[in-house]
Amino acid sequence: MKTAHRLDGIGEYYFSQKLREIDELNRQGKQVINLGIGSPDMPPHPDVIKTLQEESAKPNQHAYQSYKGSPVLRQAMASWYKRYYNVDLNPDTEILPLIGSKEGIMHICMTYLNQNSLVLVPDPGYPTYRSAAKLAGGKVIDYTLKQENNWFPDLDELRTILKDASAGESLMFVNYPQMPTGQLPEKKTFEALVAFAKECNVLLVHDNPYSFILNDEPMSLLGIEGAKDVAIELNSLSKSHNMAGWRVGMLCGARQRIDEVLRFKSNMDSGMFLPLQLAAAKALSLGPEWHEQVNAVYRKRREKVFQLLDALNCKYDQQQAGLFVWAAVPAKYKDGYELSDEVLYQKQVFITPGGIFGNAGTKYVRVSLCSPEDKLDEAIRRITAHEKQHAGTVTQHSHL
Ligand SMILES: Cc1ncc(COP(=O)(O)O)c(C=O)c1O
Repeated sequence: MKTAHRLDGIGEYYFSQKLREIDELNRQGKQVINLGIGSPDMPPHPDVIKTLQEESAKPNQHAYQSYKGSPVLRQAMASWYKRYYNVDLNPDTEILPLIGSKEGIMHICMTYLNQNSLVLVPDPGYPTYRSAAKLAGGKVIDYTLKQENNWFPDLDELRTILKDASAGESLMFVNYPQMPTGQLPEKKTFEALVAFAKECNVLLVHDNPYSFILNDEPMSLLGIEGAKDVAIELNSLSKSHNMAGWRVGMLCGARQRIDEVLRFKSNMDSGMFLPLQLAAAKALSLGPEWHEQVNAVYRKRREKVFQLLDALNCKYDQQQAGLFVWAAVPAKYKDGYELSDEVLYQKQVFITPGGIFGNAGTKYVRVSLCSPEDKLDEAIRRITAHEKQHAGTVTQHSHL
């Protein structure tokens, strides 16, 4: 049986492949410390788990659910948007719960893209924008984010690209706090993006899963005046509430956009388990102390990751948000892949090469904050031993 043409050029997801390689090293007894993936290792709030347990023990909670999600969850999402972002959303019409925001990226592409549609994706950026757009048949155009431009797009360059695009058929993915660069959003940049989307007749898709991690001022693109006319926003409980495996996200925007995406999505899945939706609603009702507690842990870990990157002579900006630290590799390495492989095979520490996020990330690496401090200490110990070994001073750890 042949695979469909739509899979041409679509590889297996990088991490799925790399995890197999790491598993193989572990089978050989290597005990790799994986600082690659941004999957929170801490549990959700105990009340969230309690809600799931209690609700799932009831006999009448097990049926198919509405395609639009439980009104309780939609109301909780609307209240969360109001409380933390000061954005008004109508829970009945302007919110669509998702089985994680990753699936939302695919649904959006399937809803809007035709063969000639242009899809602007950030480079570096989350690889799923590119693959979902390709799978849906759109024409992907990378737009380069540069450090000297604070990782914001060059809108003049985009104007030129969009000059000949058919009106009303182009999508642009944006994501701040940006993954992988950790760049925080700025109100004036969001305003410029909304104005640009209006001018160029582009649907702006803002992906916002990191706004609560190491960021004191969560911001929604929908908070910008007029944004609902040209933008939709994806959000997620994966990182903000330590619920990555639960698969709960949301799409927010104007009623018409929500209805359009629902036309596609309702043909794909049959809703979410009700106790899970009620537990997610509980999570969204948590106060700022929840986020403070989670961030206190990440802040301490980030100090360790800075030490680890110092040991590797990598350069980084200390003002990054999100679950990672993004850093430029020293000139002695050809690129982040070389550094990543060296550290993996010589010291059994995995850090992500920036090139998997696009060509503009080639000279960088990304280190995750989703490992406890003792693991980070051990990673630093291994890497420090490694660097000293290279400098010719073999230390007592050189056998590692
Ligand atoms: C930028 C970005 N968007 C979306 C996602 C997907 O998150 P979710 O768990 O909500 O599907 C991730 C996950 O790593 C991400 O980094």
